[in-house]
Amino acid sequence: MAIEAWFMNENTTTEEEDQRLPHHQNPQKLVSLEYLADLGILYWKLNPENYEKDQDLEKIRESRGYNYMDVLDLCRPAEENEMENYWQKLKNFYREHIHGDEEIRYCLGGSGYFDVRDKQDRWIRIWMKPGDLIVLPAGIYHRFTLDTSNYVKLMRLFVGEPVWTAYNRPQEEHPARKLYLHKLGQPHSS
Ligand code: LAC
Ligand code: NI
Repeated sequence: MAIEAWFMNENTTTEEEDQRLPHHQNPQKLVSLEYLADLGILYWKLNPENYEKDQDLEKIRESRGYNYMDVLDLCRPAEENEMENYWQKLKNFYREHIHGDEEIRYCLGGSGYFDVRDKQDRWIRIWMKPGDLIVLPAGIYHRFTLDTSNYVKLMRLFVGEPVWTAYNRPQEEHPARKLYLHKLGQPHSS
């Protein structure tokens, strides 16, 4: 099965605002892998079991130079006093931003949403589930949230020493943003 992605309903009322809900349009408007590829997004479906020994993952890492790797667990804490920290983290991940490098994420367990902007500045929601590996190009506006499963286990890959710095929108003068728009063949816009 390919990845599931859709155009988000951006006109939600306050009681529907929970960022962890799917936010489908009515009727649903799905987005294809080709559409994502046109935005510079790469996708692979892998077997998340035994990921430490997976030859397919190894090949991707080798061909793209992803020598750095770590694994992050994100879940809703059992302790009430850790909730504040958790919500703060979720809120930060959900701020629209870019990076100077690719964002490479491989879902090993649980699930979550990566939202990306298309060329017309519409939000596309990408549902990451175990076995989904995506590469967001440098300079694409995006954000992340857990879904209502409240749990995700993500592998992060990187070329060389990792830099996680997020530059919040607007970021039209950032070199990575300009290069991204240039690659898309689009004039500079704000
Ligand atoms: C990141 C996600 C939140 O930058 O986009 O790690
Ligand atoms: Ni990011």
